[in-house]
Amino acid sequence: MFQLTRSVTWQALKDLQAKTTDDRISDYFTADPQRFDKMSLRVGGLFLDYSKHLISDAVLDKLLELADHSALVQRRAQMFSGDIINVTENRPVLHTALRNLGEGPLMVDGQDVMPEINSTREQIRRFSDEVRSGEWKGYSGQRIKDVVNIGIGGSDLGPNMACRALLKYRHSELNFHFVSNVDGTHIQKVLSRLDPATTLFIVSTKTFSTQETLLNAKTARRWFLETAGPDADVGAHFVAASTNRKAAMEFGIREENVFEFWAWVGGRYSMWSSIGLPIALAIGFEGFIEMLEGAYEMDQHFLTAPNAANMPVLMALIGIWYINFQGAETQAIVPYDQALHQLPAFLQQLDMESNGKSVDIFGRPVDYKTGPIVWGQTGSNGQHAFFQLLHQGTRYVPIDFIASLKPEPGFEDHHFALLTNMLAQANAFMEGSQQGSDLDPYSCPGNRPSSTLLLDELTPKNLGALLALYEHKVFVQGVIWNINSFDQWGVQLGKRIAGEISSRIDAHSQDFDTSTQGLLQLVRAHFPDHGPARQEVPAPESGKPRGKRRKASS
Ligand code: F6P
Repeated sequence: MFQLTRSVTWQALKDLQAKTTDDRISDYFTADPQRFDKMSLRVGGLFLDYSKHLISDAVLDKLLELADHSALVQRRAQMFSGDIINVTENRPVLHTALRNLGEGPLMVDGQDVMPEINSTREQIRRFSDEVRSGEWKGYSGQRIKDVVNIGIGGSDLGPNMACRALLKYRHSELNFHFVSNVDGTHIQKVLSRLDPATTLFIVSTKTFSTQETLLNAKTARRWFLETAGPDADVGAHFVAASTNRKAAMEFGIREENVFEFWAWVGGRYSMWSSIGLPIALAIGFEGFIEMLEGAYEMDQHFLTAPNAANMPVLMALIGIWYINFQGAETQAIVPYDQALHQLPAFLQQLDMESNGKSVDIFGRPVDYKTGPIVWGQTGSNGQHAFFQLLHQGTRYVPIDFIASLKPEPGFEDHHFALLTNMLAQANAFMEGSQQGSDLDPYSCPGNRPSSTLLLDELTPKNLGALLALYEHKVFVQGVIWNINSFDQWGVQLGKRIAGEISSRIDAHSQDFDTSTQGLLQLVRAHFPDHGPARQEVPAPESGKPRGKRRKASS
């Protein structure tokens, strides 16, 4: 059986790591004046500079060999063609189908899925046009002014991030709110400012069984019925994006207002589907299509470019170098763009829920590190929060700097300061501090790596390409690590235990550890009527994982 860590290439990379411990990134530039030209790449409206990495030519060659020797070509072809690569849930992985505009056929279980993809996209167009034009009326005959998306995880993070990123393209008379946390203050804060007559709720949930979303949706419906009075018409103010048409209609949503998507779209990959409805409402259907087009162009690049000139592949290999050979535990995402301030949170779920795995696709424990801890915040704020640790701390953290080049008219000076701050920081991380000798206790060691990803402008198309780029980077890493990037059994565990605890708070809780029992005691004191309403334990999203699960290795 092939073992990644015993492969010749893996061993060669380990040897190279040992040989390059004293290398300095800046010396690579001195040795090769063409380094920037050789280690930068443009794809459409995106430009990647990956030259400030602790990666010599020899290391890059071996990393590319790792990709060449992996199942990348086969698994990528399988994904795009609809083969079942999500093996534990026995599903295809076809978020890419959602943005191949009109091509086809694409067979899933012997059925061409393009017609239903196209008809749902047409349903989104009609609906977004009606709401944006004011043609869609609430129960009092007024147009919609506020849109509330109720969802969590991939049913929140993608549309939330995109609506924020594309704020300058947003409809001037529509306001958007995103409710995700089950903490009542989240929905209370939003509802307190709304008029039921002009508010539209989108219940976004792939399964229509997520406890937080159902509780928030029921609270919204109760608020609506209580405040709208006798004319309240749930059907004119609630729509759903879900794979579970039946449950949506049982909630009170009209069949024609259920925007369906499919089991072969993973939650964290679903913003290209009906989950992207808030985006289409915010920036218009044409803007939503432009976002799909940007992702589609990145798909085509990913499918056709040789590994050495393939942006997702290169970013994936750079990450593997740091995670598996340089001991990095985390990956920092620092967008120098306030419009992208929610991008780190989106990429956190995309990466950590996909590659936070410790068994391979056969259920065997892996003996190497997999997905990193992804975190981050906008620059220049980060400079005044955590850059100190990145400059002088004991941790080794590769950074992705992301920015858009085109300034907003009238704010050129701000944008110039923003971009030059970013370039200065990337340089300082690499060079370290110049003053004082090496013995100077206050010097910054430098030699800290970063990529710089520049968008010509933050448009729907370039945002689509950026997000697809990271989707494929995560995919490539998952293939090389031979893990299933598309299930999330760890999350199902959390959902199940949350259901058990909340449904048994007043029952005998001896089944739990004494810590949980003690804490339940404290909680119960505040819920004299035996705690919150009983929640039926939501069934896991699908059947038991296939194959025997053994304890993961350390
Ligand atoms: O976070 C786990 C998860 O299943 C995500 O994959 C998904 O995006 C989120 O929960 C919400 O699930 P649903 O869309 O089914 O409510």
